[in-house]
Amino acid sequence: MRIKAVRGTRDITPDELRKWRYVEEVARDLFRRYGYREIRTPTFEHTELFVKGTGETTDIVEKEMYTFIDKGGRSVTLRPEGTPSVVRACLENGLFGQLPVLKLSYIGQMFRYDRPQAGRYREFWQIGVEAFGSADPSMDAEVIQLAYQLVTEVGLKGISLELNSIGCKRCRPRYVEDLREFGKRHVDELCGKCVERIERNPMRLLDCKEERCRIVMKEAPVILDYLCDECAEHFAKVREYLDLLDVPYAVNPRVVRGLDYYTRTVFEITAEGLGAQNAVVGGGRYDDLVELMGGKPTPALGFAAGLDRIVASLEAQGFEFPIDEGIDCFIAVLGREAKPVALKLATSLRREGFSVEMEHLGRSLRAQMKTADKLKARFTAMIGEDELKSGRITLRDMKSGEQRSVEEGEIPYILRRGGFSDGADAPS
Ligand code: HAM
Repeated sequence: MRIKAVRGTRDITPDELRKWRYVEEVARDLFRRYGYREIRTPTFEHTELFVKGTGETTDIVEKEMYTFIDKGGRSVTLRPEGTPSVVRACLENGLFGQLPVLKLSYIGQMFRYDRPQAGRYREFWQIGVEAFGSADPSMDAEVIQLAYQLVTEVGLKGISLELNSIGCKRCRPRYVEDLREFGKRHVDELCGKCVERIERNPMRLLDCKEERCRIVMKEAPVILDYLCDECAEHFAKVREYLDLLDVPYAVNPRVVRGLDYYTRTVFEITAEGLGAQNAVVGGGRYDDLVELMGGKPTPALGFAAGLDRIVASLEAQGFEFPIDEGIDCFIAVLGREAKPVALKLATSLRREGFSVEMEHLGRSLRAQMKTADKLKARFTAMIGEDELKSGRITLRDMKSGEQRSVEEGEIPYILRRGGFSDGADAPS
């Protein structure tokens, strides 16, 4: 029996990857414009990093981590998200001291043992940013604007941005207590999971997907009524800046996010075309995490976009991805004597920066021309008996069908120019 990819994982074939690359390029260029520098961290970490960083009472830590004991007896975990790793890396490499505001971006696979379904995988890709050092609401607005610009610049339609503030460690406990009391009063109406959440993490009651829980929670107390003056003022400023920047959003007090580290601003972006798993971006502020991980108190915020979901929703929306460019030149080889000349020509053209493919199968010219078409070759160079005798090469412009006998030295000029011409830039 053939071995298949593990459930919840998949291959991204070259045709698919073209779409991914497009999204990645838009993101990279945008991150550059906003002053982010890329960081890469390991795909696995000490389990403790996520237990502490992502949070003990989160679904991720409670049941979705790929955790194993390595041969040295350590408990390690495939990263379920990027934020704790970036914080650890900054502390370990002394990056926090380098700039007053440190802006980092990342791209990579994340792993969560969740139930696979459309748009939800056990190995998936995130592209994200983290900005450290500023507690100012203008920083929140800039990060949210960046997330919004990312989804709009890639071409997604039907976007909605939902915004909330979940307060800070001073104002939130009173809310959590009232929410817990509310949960206890409605314990008979909630699902089994939510009943457990009442004690452990009542905020999670708010984003349960079960219909009966949603109905109950409509009447639940709302965090925005509990914010302390500082948090309320911060939130008002964030909204003011977003209005100034024309970033459309809706305040939704039910957006609480599934991770423990958030403080104040949280947000999610959804896109049409994905069905239930329609969140393409999630993020927020996490002012206490750096200190929790052993650093100096450092305000921070960021977001991660799900690459799999962005590509899937672009596809569902019928987006036209940039088409794959073909190669510059295919070298058709006729007869064994032509091989050395072809190999040399391929080498020199590749050195000049052209993408070149040559025949290695010894097939008929017809078959070779078919391959040249398939590879969308701009030109085909033909080397056979006549060419060996004359020392010239037959070059065919695959667009116009025109064919000429040329000096080998002329080929780079013709390729660069994208066509035959008797222009003055050809070598004499
Ligand atoms: P998150 O909301 O857990 O946040 O994930 C961010 C995005 O990753 C989601 O909106 C979704 O697009 C994608 N995603 C999550 N799980 C899956 C899955 N199983 N399959 C496919 N895509 C998925 C975080 O991870 C935070 N670290 C974001 C952040 C950065 N907050 C502050 N800084």
